[in-house]
Amino acid sequence: MKWDARYLVDIQAIDDEHKQLFEIVNRLISARSDASDLTHIFEILNELTLFATKHFETEEDFMRETNYPEYLDHASKHMEFKEKILHFCQRAMEEGSADIVDDLLLFLREWLEDHLQKEDQEYVNHFKAHNIT
Ligand SMILES: [Fe+2]
Ligand SMILES: [Fe+2]
Repeated sequence: MKWDARYLVDIQAIDDEHKQLFEIVNRLISARSDASDLTHIFEILNELTLFATKHFETEEDFMRETNYPEYLDHASKHMEFKEKILHFCQRAMEEGSADIVDDLLLFLREWLEDHLQKEDQEYVNHFKAHNIT
């Protein structure tokens, strides 16, 4: 997954976290192609879930602080993302197979590309108007 300027929101703390999310997904991609070591894949997935949770809190804290009108809608998208990862992990464990990780990777790439270019762009003007830079 390649970082690109079109994902930038031009708010330092958020861009840094977005880049880190990409970096974790890229490690997941190589872990999947190296071997089908489920333990290692789960370690990275756990890291991804924790880091995504931290990142979503960063955005949602800004949203609450600034009374962002789309807060609830945006937060529910974050929630769906975390639930989806959890669901994939449960299925992978039940099946004892890393095959499902391919579907998960597809989902992660699409979701991140989409969310960063749409929903996350929508708060930029609002945050900047409230001196979040
Ligand atoms: Fe984000
Ligand atoms: Fe977001």
